[in-house]
Amino acid sequence: RGSLCAAPSSEAELSPTQGSAGAQLQPVSGVLGGSVLLSPVLSHSFEVKTAEWYFRGGTGKTIQVAEFGPKGFERPDPHDRFKQRLEMPNATALRIGGLELGDSGIYVVRIKYHSTVEVEDQDFNLSVYDPVPPPLIQTQLLSRSPQGCNVTLRCSLPPTTLAWTSWHLDNTSGTLQGHSGDGQTLFLAIPPDALDATYTCVARSPAEEQSSSVSLRALCQLEGGRQRWAICLGVLAAIAGPLSILCCLRRRRRKADEGGGDLNGDPKKGCGVPRAGGGVPPSDPLRTIYSEVGAGKHSLAQPQA
Ligand SMILES: *[C@@H]1O[C@H](CO)[C@@H](O)[C@H](O)[C@H]1NC(C)=O
Ligand SMILES: *[C@@H]1O[C@H](CO)[C@@H](O)[C@H](O)[C@H]1NC(C)=O
Ligand SMILES: *[C@@H]1O[C@H](CO)[C@@H](O)[C@H](O)[C@H]1NC(C)=O
Repeated sequence: RGSLCAAPSSEAELSPTQGSAGAQLQPVSGVLGGSVLLSPVLSHSFEVKTAEWYFRGGTGKTIQVAEFGPKGFERPDPHDRFKQRLEMPNATALRIGGLELGDSGIYVVRIKYHSTVEVEDQDFNLSVYDPVPPPLIQTQLLSRSPQGCNVTLRCSLPPTTLAWTSWHLDNTSGTLQGHSGDGQTLFLAIPPDALDATYTCVARSPAEEQSSSVSLRALCQLEGGRQRWAICLGVLAAIAGPLSILCCLRRRRRKADEGGGDLNGDPKKGCGVPRAGGGVPPSDPLRTIYSEVGAGKHSLAQPQA
């Protein structure tokens, strides 16, 4: 590679980008169906006269695919493999849309300037990759105690995916113990002060990356949440029981005082038998308890009125 006519060394020093951009194939990655921009770095500030783009694919045959000249953007063969997928946003850069796997190959741009006979070539090596799907995280809560929580996290991709996965830890607020794994599966022993961590699995191809995350707090508190819920129900039941008895006794006393008629106009709202309050189906224990508590408060307030 290199310019067809080597640039004087003084000019090479003036434009340090020329060396890196021009001395070798510039690798470019694209995703199937996406687009890429091949944009040469110009070594001169002269006005560009023409820019010709060439493609050499798997067959090894080189074809000219585009040109920007006095007549603007032109396609020497509009029926080649690129059809309507090429455009030149300016005199030198080439954009390829609707990328296909067969677009992988070497692209060369040959630039001619108005004020110099120098011709400049720049080469790009385009590789088109399949899209990367978001990785799948499977979690398993092994054990949980006030001393922490043991979990395994597994990150996977569909078997045919050409991508690499890795685990990343954000927001560490504690030290992790027993952190091991094969890159896909992690075994974690998490102390309570490290629950705020979020583990992210990143799947990466040369062209793109996708990630999925899991929150340790959500994972480790799944069971704790259920326990707390049960305790909550128990406490409510413990309060509701005595209250309803109290309510019952007061109603009975009130009935005796007033010679019958319940103030609420519901003679059944008296004592004894456990019942579903206020027409709430008995299948819903929480709402039943609430309505009992409510009824109790109501009756307790009555004598002060
Ligand atoms: C041509 O257009 C591309 C994309 O807009 C841009 O990155 C590049 O710098 C432009 N080149 C010149 C010489 O203007
Ligand atoms: C272009 O890049 C691909 C992928 O990195 C590589 O396998 C191939 O060898 C490169 N081609 C050349 C000519 O360097
Ligand atoms: C987690 O696993 C380690 C090692 O097997 C064990 O010593 C620890 O007690 C476990 N922690 C919990 C909370 O179960």
